[in-house]
Amino acid sequence: MEGPANLLRDKHVEYIVQLGKADNTLGFHLTEHLRLNGIYWAVTCLALLKRIDALDRQQTIDYVYSCWDNKLGGFGSHPNHDSHMLSTLSAIQVLAIHDAIQESGIDTDKVINYILSLRPKNEGFFTGDEWGESDTRFTYCAVSALSLLGALHKLDEKENGVAIKDRIVDWFKQCMNFDGGFGNNISAETHSGQVFTAVAALAILDRLDIIDRDNLSWWLSERQVESGGLNGRPQKLEDVCYSWWVLSGLSILHRLHWINKEKLMSFILSSQDPDNGGIADRPGDVADVYHTLFGVAGLSMMGYPDLEQVDPVYCMPVKTIERMHLTKSYTLL
Ligand code: FPP
Ligand code: ZN
Repeated sequence: MEGPANLLRDKHVEYIVQLGKADNTLGFHLTEHLRLNGIYWAVTCLALLKRIDALDRQQTIDYVYSCWDNKLGGFGSHPNHDSHMLSTLSAIQVLAIHDAIQESGIDTDKVINYILSLRPKNEGFFTGDEWGESDTRFTYCAVSALSLLGALHKLDEKENGVAIKDRIVDWFKQCMNFDGGFGNNISAETHSGQVFTAVAALAILDRLDIIDRDNLSWWLSERQVESGGLNGRPQKLEDVCYSWWVLSGLSILHRLHWINKEKLMSFILSSQDPDNGGIADRPGDVADVYHTLFGVAGLSMMGYPDLEQVDPVYCMPVKTIERMHLTKSYTLL
């Protein structure tokens, strides 16, 4: 495979920093709906590269605060955008990485109530916003954000005699397929991204016991194809972001050694843009910050030298999660 043999750290830092300066481009305005997610990808990636200082801390905190909806309690993806579960988790993650949840001035009780309000009555899933689409992604976001806010105990509350936490576990059980994996809803095909959301949420809830570890880890390790890259589902093309979605699950299930590390590292490294920095979904494609984060996070899990370790449950630096005393059991290479 052609391409750089080493991680182009400085190039990736430069690439991420210049993205924040590109606010006069059309692309910048067309991606407003992803802005807070993008800031989470950028800040986490810089933290893993040990260069979190490359983006100004105070400006980042101020921007996150400006996306907070004081009325509804959640975060929009951009100031004056409607609150959404995805941007709410990203906001909390960025603030947590900067140890700024309290300092930011947001009312955490309001955020917690916003998240809890997105679970329909008597259901075990959360929706993305008040319009009601269900997806394992949103349930993971709710569980992760409540945990980061120190509010997991809210899920012990009972509704009609059943604890919310038990309803969530039962819902994931219903989303489980014969291959041991999970789709985005009940009866949906297993997909590596959704496997991450289920495994990581169940890890936070201390309910990995419902998972058949060997069966699911076998399916996950089968995602590695000839080039060394991983795909999201059988018969699909390999893609750098699945280095994260697949490896995180294997790490939490203590089966990370079931993939060929050298081949995957070489696939990720060859997907770097040697001229402008950033990592693409596969060699030769255009780089973006999403694949840059998940490529670097994959390398971090596989023990690439001189990277900050990433926590596979929260996709945040291990040292942040340790500082917050939220560490769960997993293995890294
Ligand atoms: C595939 O993405 C990935 C998923 C469906 C899982 C997404 C999970 C979340 C958004 C929860 C929050 C995640 C973290 C790490 C904190 P895709 O189909 O967009 O990827 P692709 O198009 O590149 O294949
Ligand atoms: Zn991808």
